[in-house]
Amino acid sequence: MTLLDGKIASQAIKEQLKTATQAIISNGKRPPHLAAILVGNDGASETYVASKVKNCEETGFLSTLIRLPADVTESDLLEKISHLNSDSGVDGILVQLPLPRHIRESVIIQAINPDKDVDGFHPISAGKLVQGLPTFIPATPYGILLMLEHFQLSTKGKHAVVIGRSNIVGRPMSILLSSNIPFGNCTVTLCHSHTPDLAAITRQADILVAALGKPEFVTADMIKPGAIVIDVGITRVADPSAKKGFRIKGDVAFQEVAPLCEAITPVPGGVGLMTIAGLLKNTLQAYQNHTS
Ligand code: GUN
Repeated sequence: MTLLDGKIASQAIKEQLKTATQAIISNGKRPPHLAAILVGNDGASETYVASKVKNCEETGFLSTLIRLPADVTESDLLEKISHLNSDSGVDGILVQLPLPRHIRESVIIQAINPDKDVDGFHPISAGKLVQGLPTFIPATPYGILLMLEHFQLSTKGKHAVVIGRSNIVGRPMSILLSSNIPFGNCTVTLCHSHTPDLAAITRQADILVAALGKPEFVTADMIKPGAIVIDVGITRVADPSAKKGFRIKGDVAFQEVAPLCEAITPVPGGVGLMTIAGLLKNTLQAYQNHTS
């Protein structure tokens, strides 16, 4: 069993990005710049955004974190986005999700200039992805492709099963794995909460991507021996014995599933780190698109 260590794979990508950034700076130009908007103070979102900013700094990128209160109006948030859209010193914009209920997520996503949509959530980006046109791939599916590439896991002709149909992970992942691209060319089954006899389908998976957000949902009886298992879950589960009062759990019951696999991602330390690598690569791409 190979442990698909996100620390190792993401570090390798960050080193490449660092080198590219140093070359930009030594040419007298400003480095890539990511602006992140965080609304409210959800603990998990705070952690993710802090990590994105920290990784920008480590890579030599500029970053701006804009914090807005949970009761910010939709129009004030739209104004902030409009300001960032027209700021030529900002290459990538992300609005951390989820947003408070009074704000319409789709309106916010559609307000971001697609040229700066480094999350790849804008319908224009999503449409391009479906048609195989160059675009920003959402960071988590992108990170998973980078993980497959780093560990040289072949995907061509395999049956990939994706659990979860979110716009952020499951749906774009299913499209990418079925696309005629490196680390694609799979036959893909996309499963969701209305899929009957899910285990009968997952047992046919050469590659299983679990992205449903239910801790330890995927158990040993759902695995085809020799499968590659990609665990996208990162749920905080209360645990009074832990220092922070919670533990991070993946969607896969790692202890019982890992011995059956050819390869598996750990949680934490797997896909989460690759997501950030994907985001940073998109930000460099956005920079290159409008400076070349
Ligand atoms: N919330 C969960 N995942 C993501 C992500 O990749 N980007 C943003 N902006 N919000 C998220």
